[in-house]
Amino acid sequence: MPGENEIPELKKIEPYRTPKGVHDVLPEDHQFHTYIKKVIRHRARQAGFKRITTPAFEYTGLFARGIGEGSDIVSKEMYTFEDKKGRSLTLKPESTAGVVRSYIQHGMQQLPQPVMLFYIEPQFRYDRPQKGRYRQFWQFGFEILGESDPALDAQIIQLANKINEDLGIAGILELQLNTIGTPESRKKYIQVLQDFYVGKERSLCETCKYRLDKNVLRLLDCKEEDCQILAKLAPPMGDYLDKESLEYHDKLKSYLDELGIKYTENPKIIRGLDYYTKTVFEFWDSEKGAQNAIGGGGRYDGLVELMGGEPTPAVGYAAGMERVIASMKREKIRVPSKDNLHIFVAQLGEMAKKKCLTLIDDLREAGLKTMGALGKGSMNVQLRMADKFNVPYTIIVGLTEVREGNVIIRDMKKGVQEKIPVEKAVDRMIELIGEKNLDRYTPGELIY
Ligand code: HAM
Repeated sequence: MPGENEIPELKKIEPYRTPKGVHDVLPEDHQFHTYIKKVIRHRARQAGFKRITTPAFEYTGLFARGIGEGSDIVSKEMYTFEDKKGRSLTLKPESTAGVVRSYIQHGMQQLPQPVMLFYIEPQFRYDRPQKGRYRQFWQFGFEILGESDPALDAQIIQLANKINEDLGIAGILELQLNTIGTPESRKKYIQVLQDFYVGKERSLCETCKYRLDKNVLRLLDCKEEDCQILAKLAPPMGDYLDKESLEYHDKLKSYLDELGIKYTENPKIIRGLDYYTKTVFEFWDSEKGAQNAIGGGGRYDGLVELMGGEPTPAVGYAAGMERVIASMKREKIRVPSKDNLHIFVAQLGEMAKKKCLTLIDDLREAGLKTMGALGKGSMNVQLRMADKFNVPYTIIVGLTEVREGNVIIRDMKKGVQEKIPVEKAVDRMIELIGEKNLDRYTPGELIY
């Protein structure tokens, strides 16, 4: 026991780190996020999509029913918890189920169809973390609800393609396309596939052994080598699909050809969510590796009805931001940064500090990105800071300048400076930085 006057030894506190599988989006990556979001919003507006945000958590049943009890997401990857009243809630692992719930809940069937929605949201999956696979990640996605036509599937794919082009990664992505037909025609095939795997169970990976009863179709797109060898020998799904699904698929392909969009037909694309009907597709990064799908989607004509709404066809797509950013970085693509400062304001003395507060505000209002050193450092320390922030200009206000009503503008690159009256500082800085480089705040006019 320490004596009364003894000071207990201070233990060094172990700093917290992020939980496994999640990460901070640091300023450098936010530049990518901002750029990608701009592209998404622009392309969405052009095509008539409106933005929707559904809650971060929903009733667990929504996902279990929508995505499917037998899917990997529902059986293994959900963040499920009980609230204080014992209701089972789940952090959303994807947005389509929530969008469909919202479509029904808010009577969107009454709106002119199709209803076109887009989202940019964080998702949560208790996945095994590795490169490109996280427990919280960002998705952007598009959904078209209320109409069924292969031309709409083609449009969703074209939209995804345009975004890939805008982000400079279209060249390294391959569109993988398949049809999994209607649920009725699939039933027959599922039986055939289960029969095919009888006696071959021992060659399957642990996950596929589990999937055999619950979701045998997923055995076709397993990445494990032995499973792939068997999948190659499995009877092709196309032989069992109904005529309507096959015709639908042929039409979609003819529309993609018309739009000049290249695709690879891949009968092994099944997708990990149970709600798909007919069209399924993924964009693959050609770089070898397990996490090569940067985005995926397809048609889900039965989901609205499954969720309790009127039968409503729909099609959609979602991509993972982290994977998109990783592909962009690998291709050495950089995004324009608006974060660089124009001016550093250095001051000395209480009077100067006061004057600088309004000066900094005036400079910022004019669209000049300005940082003020309002701490207590000496002039030398402040000038070194200006150097570190890599600003092109520093405005210096010392005691003499306050007395004279002047400021000094220092060109940091050339090392030359000029003295001008404080009231001319903003105009002179605009001249030096250039009108076109100003960062003026223009959110649009409020309507009263
Ligand atoms: P998904 O294929 O499960 O589809 O996810 C879409 C994309 O989200 C993936 O291609 C990948 O880029 C990203 N993603 C998925 N899991 C992770 C993870 N653990 N870490 C990082 N990124 C990940 C869907 O979610 C469907 N809702 C797409 C859709 C919309 N279908 C119709 N409409």
